[in-house]
Amino acid sequence: MKLVQADAAAISYAADMLRRGRLVAFPTETVYGLGADASNPEAVAAIFKAKGRPADHPLIVHIGQPQQLQDWAREVPEAAFRLAEKFWPGPLTLILNKRERVSELLTGAQQTVGLRIPGHEVALQLLKEFAGGIAAPSANRFGRISPTTAQHVAEELGERVDVILDGGPCRVGLESTIVDLSGLQPVLLRPGAISRQQLEELLQTELLLQPRTEIRAPGMLAVHYAPVTPARLCVAGRLQETIRRQAVEKQQRIGVLTCRQPLPENPDVYSIHLSDQAEAYAQALYAAMRKLDVLHLDAILIELPPETEAWRAVHDRLRKATVGEA
Ligand code: TXA
Ligand code: MG
Repeated sequence: MKLVQADAAAISYAADMLRRGRLVAFPTETVYGLGADASNPEAVAAIFKAKGRPADHPLIVHIGQPQQLQDWAREVPEAAFRLAEKFWPGPLTLILNKRERVSELLTGAQQTVGLRIPGHEVALQLLKEFAGGIAAPSANRFGRISPTTAQHVAEELGERVDVILDGGPCRVGLESTIVDLSGLQPVLLRPGAISRQQLEELLQTELLLQPRTEIRAPGMLAVHYAPVTPARLCVAGRLQETIRRQAVEKQQRIGVLTCRQPLPENPDVYSIHLSDQAEAYAQALYAAMRKLDVLHLDAILIELPPETEAWRAVHDRLRKATVGEA
């Protein structure tokens, strides 16, 4: 594995590696992606292998220009072009009906394909040089937290990835909003930085909400994006009492993520204070979870953030990263 500063020479090298069927991790504005040539079935298969990801989990194809939508989608509804014009490059993925020649390996046997133009200079430069679609899931092992720095990718994937382009920490920090435009009505499959309200305003229609935000195989673990340490959500009012019970009475080593007030100093507790603003919280969340996770604590407590619309994507990820409420 080669971890390199994403300058022009490194990006050219990475584009060449993609052409040769190799795996290149690269920064996007959301999280780091594990990229491969989307039109090379062997390269796509290598992504699934490196992540340990089940074959029925479709990959997102990253493109550099809206015109490339037609290379992958059988038909591109007018709504897709409008969303693309408004939000791309940016943290939005569109699900469209796929062209027949698009491999089912890529789409997890679905007849639809996910597409996005990422809002990050390095990703855009890489897409420009490569000139084709780059299939890229988040660059983590299956079921783990998405990486928001190049270092995270190196820790997660090591020798399973050929090149890691370091473009600094991701600006958004949570995976893209996913909107399914393949049916009669648009469906919000995954909340993200582009909000439901922004989408509804532009589309002038209500989005259906899909409660099940991941395509999952039957019998799969409900927990996704999870740290290894068992994590629980805790309402602010019960935080101090829960910490006392676990750290003092049960003698557990615990980690805490707060958002409203930092915790008072406590030698039994490893606490990280995040922002009380949703955007800043989202940006820092995964890195904070990783920091606590590597300490091999007995448990992690996460203070429940506000329940407002601005926090929708954060709540979605917190529910997936935790095993319930404390
Ligand atoms: O922000 C992001 O979207 C990041 C960066 C790297 O672009 N990528 C990402 O990929 O989060 P991944 O593979 O970790 O998550 C992609 C999600 C999966 O939940 C998958 O089920 C859904 O997109 N997806 C992809 N193609 C789909 C399709 N054809 N139909 C329904 N869901 C799809
Ligand atoms: Mg992922």
